[in-house]
Amino acid sequence: MNALPAAAGVGVRLAGVGTALPERTLTNDDLAALVDTNDQWITKRTGIKTRHIAEDGTTTCSLAVDALRAALNEAGMQPGDLDMVLLATMTAEMSCPSTAARVVHEVGATPAGAMDITAACSGFVYGLNHAETLVRSGHYKTVAVIGAETLSRITNYEDRGTCILFGDAAGAAILTADEDTSRGCLAQTMRSDGSLWGELYVPRTADDLPEKHDGFTGRFNTLQMNGQEVFKFAVTTTQAIIDETLEKAGITPADLAAVIPHQSNRRILELVKKRMDLPEGKMVINIDKYGNTSAASVPLCLNDKVAAGELKEGDLVLFVAIGGGMCWTTSLWKL
Ligand code: COA
Repeated sequence: MNALPAAAGVGVRLAGVGTALPERTLTNDDLAALVDTNDQWITKRTGIKTRHIAEDGTTTCSLAVDALRAALNEAGMQPGDLDMVLLATMTAEMSCPSTAARVVHEVGATPAGAMDITAACSGFVYGLNHAETLVRSGHYKTVAVIGAETLSRITNYEDRGTCILFGDAAGAAILTADEDTSRGCLAQTMRSDGSLWGELYVPRTADDLPEKHDGFTGRFNTLQMNGQEVFKFAVTTTQAIIDETLEKAGITPADLAAVIPHQSNRRILELVKKRMDLPEGKMVINIDKYGNTSAASVPLCLNDKVAAGELKEGDLVLFVAIGGGMCWTTSLWKL
């Protein structure tokens, strides 16, 4: 391994991770009762077996609050230790106020700063990069990043092309200043290409439809997706930004302790894993249990890895995500 890039500013460590999942689950067999599909097709084409679905009364905000409390607990911190909360979601209950502001109030962290991030499935990793930079700058000591979604509320359960994929969840991570300046983000990318927005979008009215909208399912306020195009885009961009990020840091896949990707489709992840020549177990894949939970998927994976005791101080971990926008991003960390 070559020398890692010199880090400037304050060191940053991940102090705690927490998650929240609704109790109710929806299996592939449950979906087969709703649309023309079956467990074998869904398992083979996506790797998903089940997903969690919010009950009445469970919201993006309530899941985010539960995940943040769990992360604070893991970090051994109090709500008052938080200087800022960044919350990534594409299923905020309201456009104003931000969900983050309500979460800060609910956990008792007022007057910490609060802001939502809208970058679809890339949101948590975008948030991680922003939070790390806030802490590294020395202006903020402790920042929480949350990915929280209730995708079931924008899913058309008559569209078999999308309803098989999505689940509800939240995950949170607490970032805090560390005296070791080599800890934190070593390299990152945050990209977008808005010309592709019509491949994955949630139209509110006919005014929102793209010019070419022959794939529109006819149901407003639900997710519309060109699955094949998104699949191809995900494979190529994920590989390209991973290569670019590792090159920036002067390391190779063999140096990584873990790759923590957004859980879009098991086949996408397997293709990337093969291309990187990653040994078994290094890429975290838990899509079978939760489906695609958009901004929540990366912290769900991180939490699984931490809970299994498989990450230690000094490990190099690569976070990577791609989603609607299109937006795509990486964050390479030395823990
Ligand atoms: N059950 C059974 N058959 C289904 C089905 C389902 N749930 N969904 C589609 N099919 C059928 C199609 O109608 C098509 O039938 P046909 O050949 O008779 O026309 C056939 O299966 C193949 O459809 P296709 O769309 O090519 O399937 P696919 O292999 O591309 O899988 C997705 C569909 C959605 C699973 C896949 O495209 C995907 O995961 N894309 C990426 C989505 C994603 O990551 N989105 C989020 C980005 S963050």
